[in-house]
Amino acid sequence: MTHTSSAPVLEFAGEVALVTGGAQGLGREIATALAARGASIVLADLDVDKLSAAAADLADQHGARVVTRRCDVGMDADWDEVVRSAVQTFGRLDHLVNNAGTLDIARIVDSSPDAFRRVVEVNVTGVYLGMRAVLPIMCEQRRGSIVNISSLAGKKGMVNLAGYCASKAAVISLTQTAALEAAPIVRVNAVCPGVINTEMQQREYRILSDMTGEAREAIEQRWLDDMPMKRFQEPSDIAAAVCFLSSERARQITGEALNVNGGLLMD
Ligand SMILES: NC(=O)c1ccc[n+]([C@@H]2O[C@H](COP(=O)([O-])OP(=O)(O)OC[C@H]3O[C@@H](n4cnc5c(N)ncnc54)[C@H](O)[C@@H]3O)[C@@H](O)[C@H]2O)c1
Repeated sequence: MTHTSSAPVLEFAGEVALVTGGAQGLGREIATALAARGASIVLADLDVDKLSAAAADLADQHGARVVTRRCDVGMDADWDEVVRSAVQTFGRLDHLVNNAGTLDIARIVDSSPDAFRRVVEVNVTGVYLGMRAVLPIMCEQRRGSIVNISSLAGKKGMVNLAGYCASKAAVISLTQTAALEAAPIVRVNAVCPGVINTEMQQREYRILSDMTGEAREAIEQRWLDDMPMKRFQEPSDIAAAVCFLSSERARQITGEALNVNGGLLMD
């Protein structure tokens, strides 16, 4: 088999993509992949220092036009500001990737109601507010796509992750409702990653190890053994799925919740 390497097709040239949680992890990789395909980027995140570093990299490596905004996705007023600055800077907004997320790790009986509420505020209300903020602009443009980052945890319950699982299931539900409401102008899809060794995942291993006494490496190995494809997902695997769903190649796909989980769950 012959392998040829080539630069990505500039399928998002002239388009503008807003990525939340874009300062690190998956969000940063998704923004990089969209920028490499020609998009101008609006990066929104709570962490302003990491935002600046990510934006500088995008501009250096891909010559991308990038705007950064500090934003708590659970806050209505922050969304107004992010969307206003995106449209002021670039004059349009073609893609939203609702990627920002958080989790709390505890059994229901040991968990804090405030921590549960915060997971819902970020993972569910954040996705709702984002779609509510951008859909009028996309509908007026007669063009747009939204990808919401759900999870394997959105398709099955998991011990210690009540709020996270419930919130990610809600993301799939919100995606379906928005897809119906926004059709035929805007497509709305979700991506459900499996296990990616980002900072969020490292934190989960550490907490589970503290809770159970099982070594962190042993937990990681057990999860890897369960994975039919025998490798964890990489941020670039998720970014590739987001780019596909955001592109015209996916013009007949809406309301989908696409597994990118190495075969860990098939539904
Ligand atoms: N890592 C995994 O294995 C995995 C698996 C499935 C789904 N996901 C989902 O992928 C998304 C990205 O996860 P990650 O692994 O890159 O996590 P991460 O913790 O490495 O990065 C999350 C980013 O979101 C930002 N953020 C958190 N709360 C925010 C808020 N209220 N407003 C704005 N920004 C906020 C953080 O500052 C951070 O930059 C999340 O929605 C997560 O639930 C991750």
